[in-house]
Amino acid sequence: MILLHFVAASLVFLFTQAVFRCPVLEKQTSCTCHEIVWWNNERISIVNCSFTNLKMMPNLSSLSKQNVTRLLLNGNDISTLSISDFDVWNIMELDLSTNKLQAEGIGTLSHLAGELTKLNLARNRITINEGLMFIKNLSILTELILDSNMILNYQTYSQILPNDIFRELRLHSLRKLSLRSCSITAIGPRAFIGLGSLRELDLTYNYLEKVPSAILQLQNMQRIFLGGNDIITVDANSFVTLVHLEEIILNYNELSSIEAGAFAGLEGSLKELELSSNYLSQIPTAALRPLRKLLFLRISKNNIRTIEHAFHGEYALNMLELDSNPLEFSADTFQGLEHSLETLFLRDIGVSGIPVAALSPLKMLSYLDISHNHFSSKTFDSDLSVLSVQTLVMSNNSLQNISSSAFSRLRNPIGLDLDNNNLSDISFIVSAPSCSFRYVDVSGNPLECDCKIEEILHSGTIFGMGLTGSCWLNNTVYELGSTKLAAQLNTFCNRTERNVRCPGTFDSNSSIQSNSGLSLINVWLLLVCILLQKCWK
Ligand SMILES: *[C@@H]1O[C@H](CO)[C@@H](O)[C@H](O)[C@H]1NC(C)=O
Ligand SMILES: *[C@@H]1O[C@H](CO)[C@@H](O)[C@H](O)[C@H]1NC(C)=O
Ligand SMILES: *[C@@H]1O[C@H](CO)[C@@H](O)[C@H](O)[C@H]1NC(C)=O
Repeated sequence: MILLHFVAASLVFLFTQAVFRCPVLEKQTSCTCHEIVWWNNERISIVNCSFTNLKMMPNLSSLSKQNVTRLLLNGNDISTLSISDFDVWNIMELDLSTNKLQAEGIGTLSHLAGELTKLNLARNRITINEGLMFIKNLSILTELILDSNMILNYQTYSQILPNDIFRELRLHSLRKLSLRSCSITAIGPRAFIGLGSLRELDLTYNYLEKVPSAILQLQNMQRIFLGGNDIITVDANSFVTLVHLEEIILNYNELSSIEAGAFAGLEGSLKELELSSNYLSQIPTAALRPLRKLLFLRISKNNIRTIEHAFHGEYALNMLELDSNPLEFSADTFQGLEHSLETLFLRDIGVSGIPVAALSPLKMLSYLDISHNHFSSKTFDSDLSVLSVQTLVMSNNSLQNISSSAFSRLRNPIGLDLDNNNLSDISFIVSAPSCSFRYVDVSGNPLECDCKIEEILHSGTIFGMGLTGSCWLNNTVYELGSTKLAAQLNTFCNRTERNVRCPGTFDSNSSIQSNSGLSLINVWLLLVCILLQKCWK
């Protein structure tokens, strides 16, 4: 009991200490102040002046003795800053996005260099090519966002990010640079000199027509975002020096070809490649072949029809996205992926059934999403016993009938998503062996609450309470697992009961008890941890 009092008292102490307020500033402006205290006792003090109609910098002098971690000034009409505006020097994160700042109006931010790690200047009026001296000497800055600013070259009418623009700025710690939507048409080959620490570069939504050679200077880069540009082809050796590059995003471009040596140099690093929403008519087999580490390939919304011997490579691809391609399947469509592919997306490819013959060689396939197709006309009776899938998503397929034998010979218990179809009869569930389904989702189907539903609910073919969806009875909607529905069905159906205990499930009472016991212990441990202020330090 004494200990409890101690805990309570310390908690009060902890919280009074945690309060960070700014009454003077709050009186003068619509800014607010608050503090977040993390479980490891790290404190983040936030001054929030977002969208408060400020025409100029607020007077922060009343905060000069406080530690301000994060200063939010985004969404105002601020056009000038001056050194004296920053009476607080220890700001780590400064958000100045969506204002009216030009380079001259910013002046210099070097007095913040000691602490500033994140700076957001998106959606201002900065003419980037005229120089970025205002960020000079921010030597511990790790993240810089310049999205939706501009590049203006009056003489050439082309918007080129100039050479050496970061060279003298001493941004030695910069890890992430974002230049989205800056109307960049080309990048000078030496534009990124001086950014040797960069790990992530975002050039999404510009007008680039090729992968800029300037990136070859960024030898520590791990992720590059080039989506939403006008890139037509990827030339050989476009990334050749970037031996740490793990992820390339090239979606929403004009790609119709990718040269054989496009990804040379990335053999031991590239894990994720995003090529969706382009004009490719083939899997770029030769370019992919040497990528030993490739795990995730997204190539949806292209124009790929046939796939033959396309996946013979040194990789062990784990995930493949082929949505919205006019695919035609054969027994060797997925040759090369037999022992690696676990997740496959085949949404919106216009098929009227599961291409079982093409999929059956995929020994590791556990997740298949074949939703948004047109399964309507036939009764669904694919032989799923030859597939190893553990989750099958067949939502939005206008399915009307499922044969009672479709799920009668499964290899593994399956999770089945059948939401948003046109099923009025789901009695195939009863025909399956006990514990066939980990869950079945039949939301958005025109089901009546009849005695077949009662039978399904007690059939023991679905683990636990894993049936979701609803049914209609006398113009009322009932949730399938609800006690209300059970009560209704009891009034006119003979109660069926099959007592089945599926492997790996508990009966509901004992699992609830052990859960709450566990969480009590967790809360207790966390409290002790906070009190000692020692956890994870
Ligand atoms: C800052 O204030 C704005 C407007 O009141 C609010 O929408 C936003 O969530 C706040 N941000 C934080 C980090 O508290
Ligand atoms: C749903 O199925 C019924 C027959 O059961 C059919 O008359 C109706 O047109 C189907 N609705 C849609 C949207 O396919
Ligand atoms: C309930 O069981 C009785 C006796 O077996 C049978 O005659 C009757 O048709 C059943 N009712 C329903 C709704 O299944």
